[in-house]
Amino acid sequence: MLKQFDAVVVREQDGAVSYSVEVVTDEQLSPGEVIIKVAYSSINYKDMLAVKANGGVIRNYPMIPGIDLSGTVISSETSDLQAGQKVLVTGFQMGMGHTGGLSEYARVPAEWIVPLPDGLSLRDAMIVGTAGFTAGLSIMALEKMGMNMRNNPNILVTGASGGVGSIAIQLLHKCGYTNIAALSRKSAEEARLKSIGATYIVTPNDIFPDKPKPLVKQKFHYVLDTVGGDVASALIPQIHYGGSMSMCGNAGGIKLDTTVLPFILRGVNVLGVDSVNFPIAERFSIWSRFAGEWHIMDDALVSEIDMGELKQTFEALNNGTHTGRTIVKIS
Ligand SMILES: NC(=O)c1ccc[n+]([C@@H]2O[C@H](COP(=O)([O-])OP(=O)(O)OC[C@H]3O[C@@H](n4cnc5c(N)ncnc54)[C@H](OP(=O)(O)O)[C@@H]3O)[C@@H](O)[C@H]2O)c1
Repeated sequence: MLKQFDAVVVREQDGAVSYSVEVVTDEQLSPGEVIIKVAYSSINYKDMLAVKANGGVIRNYPMIPGIDLSGTVISSETSDLQAGQKVLVTGFQMGMGHTGGLSEYARVPAEWIVPLPDGLSLRDAMIVGTAGFTAGLSIMALEKMGMNMRNNPNILVTGASGGVGSIAIQLLHKCGYTNIAALSRKSAEEARLKSIGATYIVTPNDIFPDKPKPLVKQKFHYVLDTVGGDVASALIPQIHYGGSMSMCGNAGGIKLDTTVLPFILRGVNVLGVDSVNFPIAERFSIWSRFAGEWHIMDDALVSEIDMGELKQTFEALNNGTHTGRTIVKIS
């Protein structure tokens, strides 16, 4: 039995959703074999949706949000994980149907837990978080389709100033790619995006044609899309013959307006990326890459807050003005 501790709790009353830091007990935690003392959580777009009315993330209230956490095991009912072991958890039902990481303690099913790889700190793990993990999965998906440095492809990252986008730029740069275009609506972010690895900046004016056509000039070999909606729709006709777009996000909408022509005349591929239910068996090796060849945490655009300071970050995510990664120091 844990003593009382602090957690963010999202409540719903008469259709209105609110959240605040509350004192809770372990009886309010969802079931699981492992209790973790949380060191850090991180804020992703989905966490903002979780505290929003009709956000579509939380089905049953009250709920402790937080889709990510890193921390130390304090008790475990499985021999695979020991008290004192450092771990991280991202995705699955965390902060959605299962109490999440914005809490001093979390109780988690063992099969969702990744042991922290050597070379990665608990803070590093949350700088990466779901956003960085998704950026990594997106790059792996594009590389599977032929993206590699030998042919110096023209790669466009959309939503470049956001969490997934900014880490994707850093990872591509760290991998050695030298033709990285960053699509951002924020002109003030240009210098920062170049400082983390963008070769040049693309603005929305550059990608939206005066008159939409099913096929336009081929500009990008690969697109790592985090925005969806009109942005993804405008870019599909601009992908080179045989090129690919990875698609992970919907910050710009869920509708895709396209024709079959880019696919049947140019062999363009659209690759879905999901980090939430990505198989646990393959997660450790991907996280280990962040401890080595993908170690970008020291140069990442990071803000650190505590559980009492979430409002501003959620507002920025909601307004599309959020930049980089926000991590939450819990204990
Ligand atoms: N599939 C998965 O497993 C998975 C995992 C993680 C995240 N995601 C999704 O990926 C997306 C990005 O997540 P994130 O955490 O990086 O969010 P974020 O930090 O808010 O970044 C999103 C970026 O997209 C751009 N943007 C936002 N609203 C837009 C709009 N209406 N039109 C055009 N561009 C817009 C902004 O960049 P600029 O201002 O620079 O253009 C913004 O910074 C979200 O939709 C999220 O749900 C999916």
